[in-house]
Amino acid sequence: MLPIHRPRRNRKSEVIRDLVQETRLTTHDFIFPLFLIEGQNQTLEVKSMPGIHRFTADRIIDEVGQCVELGVKAFAPFPSINDALKDCLARESANPEGLYLKTVAEIKRQFPDIVLMTDVAMDPYSSDGHDGIVDAESGEILNDATLEVLGQMALAQARAGADIIGPSDMMDGRVAWIRRVLDENAFQHVSIMSYTAKYASAFYGPFRDALDSAPKKGDKKSYQMNPANKREALRELALDEAEGADMVMVKPALSYLDVIHAVKERTHLPVTAYNVSGEYAMVKAAAQNGWLDGERTMLEVLTSIKRAGADAILTYFAKEAAAVLRRG
Ligand code: PBG
Repeated sequence: MLPIHRPRRNRKSEVIRDLVQETRLTTHDFIFPLFLIEGQNQTLEVKSMPGIHRFTADRIIDEVGQCVELGVKAFAPFPSINDALKDCLARESANPEGLYLKTVAEIKRQFPDIVLMTDVAMDPYSSDGHDGIVDAESGEILNDATLEVLGQMALAQARAGADIIGPSDMMDGRVAWIRRVLDENAFQHVSIMSYTAKYASAFYGPFRDALDSAPKKGDKKSYQMNPANKREALRELALDEAEGADMVMVKPALSYLDVIHAVKERTHLPVTAYNVSGEYAMVKAAAQNGWLDGERTMLEVLTSIKRAGADAILTYFAKEAAAVLRRG
């Protein structure tokens, strides 16, 4: 009889389990997305994202302060723009006196050591709710005309103090375009985290509610990727590397762990994953119903994303997970 092989010996006590643990989550892994709104003195919960709020500029400073105390030091703010300021060219996106850029500059002034990743895409500022310019006649999303807008938006964000530019729009050639604009304006030190494989996902629903940024007509399938495709993500990866991305991202995370893994195997660049709004909402909804243990599920989700190959994780769980990890 063959002896029984006993992998369970490596699980027999907590100390041994800790010794052989392969993936360890830390607060350093997290980038915390933040929702910014106009006004003062307001903190409004996002209905479909329990525990996540939309903050006015004064309140977002307090929130960043609390997160920094917990060890979260990287943030990705997103703005909710008044409809009156939206137009078909997203002009408000480059306004240094606008809500977003003023607040980015103020956060950097108060917390010079944190990392701010700013979002480059037209949708929060676009009267069409798309990430690119919409051709008025055909309804087509115009790639090359959009690059001009993205370049100006990225430049304005760099001027406001962004550490990392995060183009989330999926237009072709945007990484090279933005890199050139930044370099020509002496922003060589500003990084680009490319949303390399961003899928046309149903999991963005709560985010679009939070920012009121859903497309007015049509969907995003002519620029965001088909959820059925993995090899196409590797093509996008090769292009982003060639165009000069400093970091690459896969988004969403949970339904795309295989894509995170494939990207990680093929690049020497840091890989990030975006654990998006709908993934957060699912866990919270089940936990509120008593159907799942919210805290354990959160840690399992985040650990699995890291195990799949993510070096960093954009997640709405960042603050809560930091508090749990600190408690130990
Ligand atoms: C848009 C953008 C989206 C998200 C981040 N940037 C939504 C979309 O593409 O429609 C989604 C993030 C989330 O769901 O948490 N540029």
